[in-house]
Amino acid sequence: MIFLTSVLLGFLFQNVKTARILLTVMDQGRSHATSFNAFMHRLQQDNHTTALEFAKFHPDIDFGMEEKFVDMDGFQNPFASPDFDKIAFEEDYSFIHQAVAYGFGSETCNNILNHKREKFFEIVSEDWDLYLSDSLFAVCGYGMAEISGKPHVMMHSTDLESAQGSFKGFSRYIYSKIQNISFENFRNYATFVPSNLPFTMLDFSVSKYSHRVWAAYDWFGSYIFTAIVGNFAQKWALRSIIPFPYFSFSEYNRKSSFTFTDMPDSLFPPASRTNDFFSFGAYCKSSSKPLDSEFLSFIDDPKSKGTIIIAFGTFIDWRKAPDHYYETFSTVINQLTDYRVIWSMKGDRPLGLGNHVKTSGWVPQNQILHHNKTVLFLSHGGLKSTKEAICSATPTIFVPMFGEQTRNSWLIKEKGFGRIMNKFQINVRELETHIREVLDHPSYQQNANKFLTHYMDQPIPTLDEGAFRFNKLLKYYGKMPAYFYPKSLDLSYITALNLDLLILLPVFSLYLVSK
Ligand SMILES: *[C@@H]1O[C@H](CO)[C@@H](O)[C@H](O)[C@H]1NC(C)=O
Ligand SMILES: *[C@@H]1O[C@H](CO)[C@@H](O)[C@H](O)[C@H]1NC(C)=O
Ligand SMILES: *[C@@H]1O[C@H](CO)[C@@H](O)[C@H](O)[C@H]1NC(C)=O
Repeated sequence: MIFLTSVLLGFLFQNVKTARILLTVMDQGRSHATSFNAFMHRLQQDNHTTALEFAKFHPDIDFGMEEKFVDMDGFQNPFASPDFDKIAFEEDYSFIHQAVAYGFGSETCNNILNHKREKFFEIVSEDWDLYLSDSLFAVCGYGMAEISGKPHVMMHSTDLESAQGSFKGFSRYIYSKIQNISFENFRNYATFVPSNLPFTMLDFSVSKYSHRVWAAYDWFGSYIFTAIVGNFAQKWALRSIIPFPYFSFSEYNRKSSFTFTDMPDSLFPPASRTNDFFSFGAYCKSSSKPLDSEFLSFIDDPKSKGTIIIAFGTFIDWRKAPDHYYETFSTVINQLTDYRVIWSMKGDRPLGLGNHVKTSGWVPQNQILHHNKTVLFLSHGGLKSTKEAICSATPTIFVPMFGEQTRNSWLIKEKGFGRIMNKFQINVRELETHIREVLDHPSYQQNANKFLTHYMDQPIPTLDEGAFRFNKLLKYYGKMPAYFYPKSLDLSYITALNLDLLILLPVFSLYLVSK
């Protein structure tokens, strides 16, 4: 009887292998952890155990996962340094900054391995079946997966970064099909909108030669700075646990058994795909909680023509912004007395703002966006805010600050329901023009409504499909059989980039000429 029961149970649970999964994200990685949250919670529905690891400098929100934080209270978080604010407010973000950020992550990881070594090994010694690695800056997390010998999956809080894409032999940036050499394929990395889109190219178009040259430069620079410069710091941080030739980030990506991204397919330009890539990003988080009465009574004011919400994400602190940022925004919104403005800002309410402006250290952004009186969203264009704008069909003005925010803003602008404000031209006239354009032209709202219907039109809900693929991976103990993976992973860059073929023709011509 017992035998029969266990055979039966074994049969029932055959396809429902539950696993213990550790997600490791960047230091104090609230932003990235919340990007992955929807997917992690979906995996919990399939009875997987999900835990979250990061270096914690101060208490954070509840992520709905088991917490395996390394307590770094008392240490300096390099990401919270004034250098970072300077980059966000005053510099054009590029792959060089990206390498600096890997340096920041390495600095903390070095501190962990010097001062919190027991905690590090305690986490590794728990029996994880699979590691999920934040593709950005989770240096000690990479070390954990590497020394555990367990398979690991790459998690991208936005689209696959160009360097990481190249490490994985993806055709979208680099690899053209060897059997079917087409110049169109080969140019892919140049015809893609670069993730670090500079402010001089907010009108990016693949038909412009200079823009394609920039895209190729961005791809190449990202590759060099991630594979060599950023990796140098990682090698140093992990040197005590990964001996010579030390940790290789490109190899770590190459060996990863799967790649999941949070960038919605329907938002991104069409791109080639490999088996081991899936985007679970096209979902909407429901705003089930009703809006707080404090905000509701403010919004429902019958004299109001609509609500404008200003929220710049977790990283941006108005108090640290150069003075002209606050002056410009306050001057312009003080004139919009017909509207109700909700402005998310930390610290005390500054003097001189009108009664139609409500400031708050925390605002229920998603609920406000879903309120039908909300007419405009001013934000930095992080992917989570971008998706909330899409899901609530709210016209936007994005002021991108760093990372891939310019690219996200560009994607929304292309869909016709957003405008991009250049952070190097923050002045009253610019901001006024942008706001009036959106408020006075119904096309922005119409395009937002139209895009939302396309966005959610998926054959299977993406989180379900992602969970299905994840479970399939687990069926094979976290690494698919070799046939599943693209051949380009095993080719040298000379071959994968067709450089050998490109060199052949000139050499042959030279040979003929010299005859
Ligand atoms: C998860 O576990 C619960 C309780 O044991 C069970 O009822 C449910 O069917 C399981 N879900 C899946 C997807 O296996
Ligand atoms: C190569 O690509 C073209 C279209 O770009 C297609 O018509 C052709 O069938 C392909 N050839 C092979 C061998 O796949
Ligand atoms: C907004 O929603 C309220 C109820 O929540 C409804 O009474 C009102 O008609 C809606 N307004 C518009 C313009 O859709």
